Amino acid sequence: MQLNTTNEEVRQKYAVLATEYRQKSWFNENILGVKRLRKSLLTRAQGRTLEVACGTGENFQYLTKTTSLTAVDLSPAMLELAKQVAQQLRLSVDFQVMQAEDLHFADASFDTVISTMSTCTFNDPVASLREMRRVCHPNGRILLIEHGHSRWSWLADYQDRHAHDHFQTAGCRWNQDPLDIVQAAGLKILASQRHFLGIFHTIEAQSG
Ligand SMILES: C[S@@+](CC[C@H](N)C(=O)[O-])C[C@H]1O[C@@H](n2cnc3c(N)ncnc32)[C@H](O)[C@@H]1O
Repeated sequence: MQLNTTNEEVRQKYAVLATEYRQKSWFNENILGVKRLRKSLLTRAQGRTLEVACGTGENFQYLTKTTSLTAVDLSPAMLELAKQVAQQLRLSVDFQVMQAEDLHFADASFDTVISTMSTCTFNDPVASLREMRRVCHPNGRILLIEHGHSRWSWLADYQDRHAHDHFQTAGCRWNQDPLDIVQAAGLKILASQRHFLGIFHTIEAQSG
């Protein structure tokens, strides 16, 4: 089933979702363990770092080894919340409203590119990952936390049955297969692990 929208519609959806985003993510973060995954993967980010679709800035606290941080998102409402987090952490961040499918940076501009819980909301996840691949230095790292189809068939079936409703309420395609998308974009996967009923993926990749 094709779940289509436009980037303008995504922006409008997140203008509303922004205020309740943290509250709605609480269960995933604290009970399903996403917070723990963020910490274990993203503390590896180093050097010039780009975060694509930074949302409300949940990852900033883990980016302790970066020399510079650029954070982009297509939603100004989400970026406003991320700016408050950066201020609280006294972190200097170059914030830009930008679409993941069209990153305005030169090739190989960053040592690390991170993006989390994002490809499910991208209208063109493969094009977005190709852009991350392009702007990441060939020796750099692309660090992703994504979610998708469970490896448990009963849960995967449930996700399929409710994919349309979930997309309408949350703007999220929860039955995608993140590894397929990453491979379609031509990234070289160095390590990947599945977590919590095989729903969440931590992926470390290179531009290849
Ligand atoms: C589910 S939230 C995840 C936010 C954050 N990365 C996190 O881990 O909490 C998805 C984010 O992707 C952004 N987004 C969706 N489509 C985008 C696109 N095409 N380009 C840039 N950002 C996009 C949304 O505005 C939203 O902030």
